[in-house]
Amino acid sequence: MLETIVQRERDFGTPASLAAETVALVIDGVECSVPAGTSVMRAAAIAGINIPKLCATDSLEAFGSCRLCLVEIEGRRGYPASCTTPVEAGMVIRTETPKLHDLRRNVMELYISDHPLDCLTCPANGDCELQDMAGVVGLRNVRYGYEGANHLNDATDSSNPYFDYDPSKCIVCSRCVRACDEVQGTFALTIDGKGFASRVAAGQNDPFLDSDCVSCGACVQACPTSTLVEKTVIMMGQPEHSVITTCAYCGVGCAFKAELKGDKVVRMVPWKDGQANRGHSCVKGRFAWGYATHKDRITKPMIRASINDPWREVSWSEAINHAASELKRIQAKYGRDSIGGLTSSRCTNEETYLVQKLVRAAFGTNNVDTCARVCHSPTGYGLKTTLGESAGTQTFDSVMFTDVVIVMGANPSAAHPVFASRLKRRLREGAKLIVIDPRSIELVDSPHIKADYHLPVRPGTNTALLTSMAHVIATEGLIDEAFVAERCELPAFEQWRAFVSQPENSPEAMAEITGVPAADLRAAARLFATHGNGSIYYGLGVTEHSQGSTTVMAIANLAMATGNLGREGVGVNPLRGQNNVQGSCDMGSFPHELPGYRHVSDDAVRGEFERDWGVTLQPEPGLRIPNMFDAAISGSFKGLYCQGEDIVQSDPNTQHVAAALSAMECVIVQDIFLNETAKYAHVFLPGSSFLEKDGTFTNAERRVSRVRKVMEPLGGLSDWEATCELSNAMGYPMHYKHPSEIMDEIARLTPTFQGVSFAKIDELGGSVQWPCNEQAPDGTPTMHVDEFVRGKGKFMITKYVPSDERSTRKFPLLLTTGRILSQYNVGAQTRRTPNVMWHKEDLLEIHPQDAEDRGILQGDWVAVQSRVGETVLRADITERVQPGVVYTTFHFPESGANVVTTDSADWATSCPEYKVTAVQARRVTQPSTWQAKWSRFSDVQHQLLNDRLREGEAPAKGPQAQPKEREGEATEQV
Ligand code: SF4
Ligand code: SF4
Ligand code: SF4
Ligand code: FES
Repeated sequence: MLETIVQRERDFGTPASLAAETVALVIDGVECSVPAGTSVMRAAAIAGINIPKLCATDSLEAFGSCRLCLVEIEGRRGYPASCTTPVEAGMVIRTETPKLHDLRRNVMELYISDHPLDCLTCPANGDCELQDMAGVVGLRNVRYGYEGANHLNDATDSSNPYFDYDPSKCIVCSRCVRACDEVQGTFALTIDGKGFASRVAAGQNDPFLDSDCVSCGACVQACPTSTLVEKTVIMMGQPEHSVITTCAYCGVGCAFKAELKGDKVVRMVPWKDGQANRGHSCVKGRFAWGYATHKDRITKPMIRASINDPWREVSWSEAINHAASELKRIQAKYGRDSIGGLTSSRCTNEETYLVQKLVRAAFGTNNVDTCARVCHSPTGYGLKTTLGESAGTQTFDSVMFTDVVIVMGANPSAAHPVFASRLKRRLREGAKLIVIDPRSIELVDSPHIKADYHLPVRPGTNTALLTSMAHVIATEGLIDEAFVAERCELPAFEQWRAFVSQPENSPEAMAEITGVPAADLRAAARLFATHGNGSIYYGLGVTEHSQGSTTVMAIANLAMATGNLGREGVGVNPLRGQNNVQGSCDMGSFPHELPGYRHVSDDAVRGEFERDWGVTLQPEPGLRIPNMFDAAISGSFKGLYCQGEDIVQSDPNTQHVAAALSAMECVIVQDIFLNETAKYAHVFLPGSSFLEKDGTFTNAERRVSRVRKVMEPLGGLSDWEATCELSNAMGYPMHYKHPSEIMDEIARLTPTFQGVSFAKIDELGGSVQWPCNEQAPDGTPTMHVDEFVRGKGKFMITKYVPSDERSTRKFPLLLTTGRILSQYNVGAQTRRTPNVMWHKEDLLEIHPQDAEDRGILQGDWVAVQSRVGETVLRADITERVQPGVVYTTFHFPESGANVVTTDSADWATSCPEYKVTAVQARRVTQPSTWQAKWSRFSDVQHQLLNDRLREGEAPAKGPQAQPKEREGEATEQV
């Protein structure tokens, strides 16, 4: 997977045909047989014959504009374009004749006569299809001269932070326009003007940055010249070698070719053979990787006695020994269960596996948890209960076979953009769309996409809405009785049918609660139940509720009742947020489960791990994250190892989290930056970015993909190596030489991973979907095909229980939160990239009516107050939100979105109810008290970092970071 020379991936010119029927023909004397519908160009490429081309590329439908790919076909007059001519049985084709050579040379001459001849200094020199084609057709001179009208002096548009548009080099092949339309689905580009005057235009001839362009890079990827080219290529020159790896942002898990000069990344190019992304990407993975070498990276371990002290840089061994001795001291004083650890959903499977092993085997406790606690833990609970497995059921490709899609509580265009592009492609082909969301997300109405139904559900009432959809399906005879009879537990089904059929669950009765008109809901339910393959995609707008687990079960009920499970085009698909949140759950990060979702109280399972790990494990579940915080505040939880997770910014009720961390005696943070949590830390271990380590990530499709090291860890150790060191210092030896050995151990101990190894992943082309074992040696693209993992599917009763977070006279609005495309979660990475040009601050979206009631104007400062806290954000007055609902993102620490969110949580999993917080909003002129305190605290912490004692420097006074009693520390907590 390491290529020493960057090679352009093979381009077959036009997309593959999926037809089963084949057609035989002869090309240049070579007999070949290809699927019906294949273009002559592609058939030739398959036969190893490359027909010259410029406007064709196999990620786009053929266009037929450049006339370079002409061929001769026996029995046909003229010279048809091979890219737009489909094969026919018995065709005899010639691709190289003197006449064709002449025609092609003439075409190239015209192109070159209006193209700067600066190849030697052009950033695309060596990677330019125009240059290649000039060579291929044997062009040696240009007869037309350069005196006539041309575009050679057209000005470059450099407004996009990541790529330039230099129109002087444009051959008007439309590949960029078609990439934006067909692949990305944004329709930001057009060809403006006619004939000689035709030029590529973004929007209404706007600079790229001011247009609708979302900077996905598809046009840059498609451009055969250097007209659209990455700024990094302009600055650094062409890359020399490449490594295939996986994006470390969202749960789509796009595969990329990291193209490098030495160990410097020149660009990240979406890998054409990537099975999750099929050669597409979004702005984050494609361009926002510069954070990895940002000046804010902390690359030396640091310790300090209290959070009021400056940091002291120390060696890895001193930091690790100090951390281990502190944890041991705490356990000796407060007991075994007074410490714990958090695994990171940004780290690899191997790393999360090691952290949970460290906690269970070296700390001797089950106090381990992960960020999935605060996002998709209800998915785990809900799907395990109903279907038997805690994961999505499909591949992303499956959406191309769907006929009707429900998107619920998810905003794929912002949070899972590459999947959104695929979904939009299917919608443009005619699939129907039902959006269930309090906001009018982009999919509701965007270029060439219009949702058939948008059900603007009132926050907190998802369960009521889905139960009323089930009511329609059950009472109007729309249940797939045969599927249910064969695949599901019938007594549970009958109880469910009786329950949902009750009049109080009808859309008419529920409309009062959900705010969704009964007629729309009935029509949407009928559409879903009757329109062929129905699939459901959902996100945190489903899970992050007091009834998150119930709603997940309601989704599974709906899919079972309509027979929409167990084949392509259907299924229940949680859109996982972070790159490896699926993996961190799979790897046993929850306090009650060992790897593979097996309960710690199961003696047989625990016995297996005990024998392999050589320790006795605790049979009782450990503390969940919120319980750790409560225990810290009450004084029984004193030490935390937190790898790659910023709980202060990401978890609800910031002041509660800060109080918990302030009450601990040893907080060990392993991260790449001084994040909000690290400001409360006593030990800082430098983390490594995804470019600095080997391992695997598991995406939302259960796809385990390789992550490959492209540069050495800036801090000297990959995260897994640091965990091993800490474990060794704690007295529990871990001696892995490479992450592949950790994966071998995971496979040995986890039935669903039994067949997974790095070698197997390579053999399967870069990824494998679990379960991968004896029954499914090449993995499992679609789950629950013949039977559910639990045997029979189990319908669950989904009674609507109103959340305690309800609008009241004091807090009449409901706040819901989400993400934006250009930023990622707490923003620690994306805020350190030019992506801030698109989103500089978190805004409060408020409906015009609510704004008017409060005298709030666009851009005013608005205080948002809940029962736990208050923060101030700038107002964005918009009808995207409905009256009574306000919305914000949480990408900037100073916004303090989670100062406002409360400890209300899912009944089954403690997943916080981020999506519903009762608030009041009022116009103000200054930041909140919390923001003022945060600002002071943050300044002090940055100063303490800047004042850190460098390795080898003597401390000014007294030894630092010696264990000491910390009662009465004078910290102003935020
Ligand atoms: S910008 Fe590139 S892809 Fe677009 S029309 Fe010009 S040459 Fe073709
Ligand atoms: S970067 Fe993406 S969105 Fe922007 S113009 Fe190119 S293809 Fe369209
Ligand atoms: S952020 Fe997600 S969609 Fe974007 S490139 Fe990375 S994995 Fe793909
Ligand atoms: S490649 Fe066929 S017409 Fe351009």
